[in-house]
Amino acid sequence: MKLSERLGAVESEDAAEATKAAKAAKTTKPVPPRATPAPEPAPEPAERPTRPTRPTPAGPTPRSERHEPAPKDGAPPAERSTRKRSNVGWEVTKKRVRDLVLADLGPRLTGSKRVGPELDKEVKAALDRALQREDVRISPVERSKFVAEVLSDILGYGPLDAPLADPTVTEIMCNAYDQIWVERRGVIEPTDLAFTDDGQYRQVIDKIVTAVGRRVDESSPMVDARLPDGSRVNAVVPPLALNGAVLTIRKFAEDPYTVADLINFGSMTMDLALFLEAAVRGKLNVLVSGGTGTGKTTTLNVLSSFIPERERIVTIEDAAELQLQQPHIVRLESRPANSEGKGEVRIRDLVRNALRMRPDRIVVGEVRGGEALDMLQAMNTGHAGSITTVHANTARDALSRLETMVLMAGFDLPMRAIREQIASAINIIVQLERASDGTRRIISVEEVQGLEGDIILLQQLFRYVPRTSVDGRQVGEIEAAGLRPKFLDALVHSGVDLPASVFQAPVRPREVRSKTRSVPSVAELIARSGGPVPGARR
Ligand SMILES: Nc1ncnc2c1ncn2[C@@H]1O[C@H](COP(=O)(O)OP(=O)(O)O)[C@@H](O)[C@H]1O
Ligand SMILES: [Mg+2]
Repeated sequence: MKLSERLGAVESEDAAEATKAAKAAKTTKPVPPRATPAPEPAPEPAERPTRPTRPTPAGPTPRSERHEPAPKDGAPPAERSTRKRSNVGWEVTKKRVRDLVLADLGPRLTGSKRVGPELDKEVKAALDRALQREDVRISPVERSKFVAEVLSDILGYGPLDAPLADPTVTEIMCNAYDQIWVERRGVIEPTDLAFTDDGQYRQVIDKIVTAVGRRVDESSPMVDARLPDGSRVNAVVPPLALNGAVLTIRKFAEDPYTVADLINFGSMTMDLALFLEAAVRGKLNVLVSGGTGTGKTTTLNVLSSFIPERERIVTIEDAAELQLQQPHIVRLESRPANSEGKGEVRIRDLVRNALRMRPDRIVVGEVRGGEALDMLQAMNTGHAGSITTVHANTARDALSRLETMVLMAGFDLPMRAIREQIASAINIIVQLERASDGTRRIISVEEVQGLEGDIILLQQLFRYVPRTSVDGRQVGEIEAAGLRPKFLDALVHSGVDLPASVFQAPVRPREVRSKTRSVPSVAELIARSGGPVPGARR
């Protein structure tokens, strides 16, 4: 289905309302919006919280009802016990009871079949026994809360259960057992959640990591894992983490952002979306560039959704995050080395292997190393229309990162040859940025025009023009730079229709534009703070 057909809701005036309407339509209508029959979705387990509409980041309408975490397995949602309470006795008793239950159940809790109603029943029975044996002095009302907390500690992830179930939370960051931060609407905020102690914190980390067959300890202090729901987990423990274990969870988007969402958030415009759709359908090679958490994966997912359904897509990622809807998809995931340092399968190996799998498109989650060379070769030789992301702050930076990564492939290639490869492979670079208020947006789209001398020529097609900010929020517009890309004719010849008007720059008085603030140099900053001027002798 064409973008313009899919985007019925976007033309509505109120952007936030439009998202709401689009999502509401989606939930009432179980039929997927795409034309091909998708496989029947598996029935949702009852205790899994359904994820309502994701919040508009820094949106104009704060929706208080979303702040309530969805109840999980009967546990009172907002009132989690593991808050940093002054009630030390409660925590001590809980720990005692929990230890009793753990001792009672022993190895049955650490097997691979950890979840399931059978185990739930066993844990509840063991908990009852422990409570009978122990003299737990709490009121009957508190007792059910106590039981819910101990159950969540044993069967779930303790204090992390609440933010995991809360659809407004997109990221959970633990710096210590009693320092848990969350990200909502792109903004990081502290919580009053806490594990009972460091021991429980490490138990939860171990539980997450061992469930995917990995381990984390002094000899392997850094590990990536995944929660059963697909959320991406990273854990770093001492000696690498100096102040104790650090756990970072990027929550899996059960309801990933669509192109309509990104337009409604102001992350891109309708014209830009039309252009990007034409670029993907017309098999241009696209590089999405941005810093950490700027929305690269989200944008990659949206761009990949434009790939026609009859094409065979191979996706390659470090930790599978992409959620494509097309019927013909092969998903590959890299693998770290095991404890003996063996069995590693790198992104690079997967890219090479993918070439033998008759792909029409190769979508690589992120290029970080030598795979850049294989990717460029694939883009130049019959796998046009491939898409990937790179960690860089500007389009120009993205190119030099690519050069460095090609060198990491280990061939002694002359710089000019590398630039030729890059210039002929990459067609457009989409640059993302995360503003200080948490808003993510496309700030620039550039066409790679070729090589002139030793320099890769870039031409800006779309750009974000910032304006005066209203109460801390950045406002501005994404607009066309007014230049027709070189590839436009080829695109139109290949049968993709794209109105030339999307490239027209808006006409308006120049003085309305705000100038970007000039940033002081480091020397100026030091001089202002009264410190020594660099280079000056004492
Ligand atoms: N355009 C957007 N507007 C608001 N939030 C976004 C947008 N794009 C991504 N996000 C959110 O930002 C977080 C990071 O996005 P992600 O695509 O994983 O970033 P990256 O891959 O660059 O690290 C996620 O929680 C995602 O839901
Ligand atoms: Mg990413």
